[in-house]
Amino acid sequence: MIARTGIRLGAAALVTGMLLAAPATAQFAKPEAAIKYRQSAFTVMGNHMGRLAAMARGDRPFDAAAAQNSARIIDTMARLPWEAFVPGSDQGKTDAEPELFDNLADVRRLADRLNAETTKLVSASGNLDTLRNQVDATGAVCKSCHQKYRKM
Ligand code: HEC
Repeated sequence: MIARTGIRLGAAALVTGMLLAAPATAQFAKPEAAIKYRQSAFTVMGNHMGRLAAMARGDRPFDAAAAQNSARIIDTMARLPWEAFVPGSDQGKTDAEPELFDNLADVRRLADRLNAETTKLVSASGNLDTLRNQVDATGAVCKSCHQKYRKM
């Protein structure tokens, strides 16, 4: 009993300690880790956007279950990259334009727009016509950010 309480208190202290010692950037050990993290989220998001675009174009047969699965993955991934644009991660193996780091409020606004569209993508994925429209609407936000903030 005493031992178990001790473990629980120890765990609680650990969690509290972590929260207190965690400024936003401490989620990543170094800037390179943040770059890899955001690129990974973008890569998965891009892969599934590609699958949906292929269905929308008719290059792949429409499959509602697969479409919904991809839409859910995109909707989740689309929430991840933004916290990883941390100070120092403008240097190194990144395709982010340097201006991005001076315009984080605009990036946040574009990210919020993307997240709104990806939420709609999940509900649109059950039907080919609605999927088509929503793939276009979502892709337009990807594009508008890339034109501004991603090196092409
Ligand atoms: C708010 C801005 C923004 C939005 C919105 C955005 N991206 Fe990006 N994307 C970037 C930036 C910046 C990079 C470069 C990241 C880096 O190299 O550090 C990037 C990189 C990528 C990459 C390359 C990843 C790699 O491995 O280097 C892919 C793929 C990608 N984005 C796909 C997408 C797709 C698909 C969408 C829409 C569903 C999207 N992005 C929406 C800013 C954005």
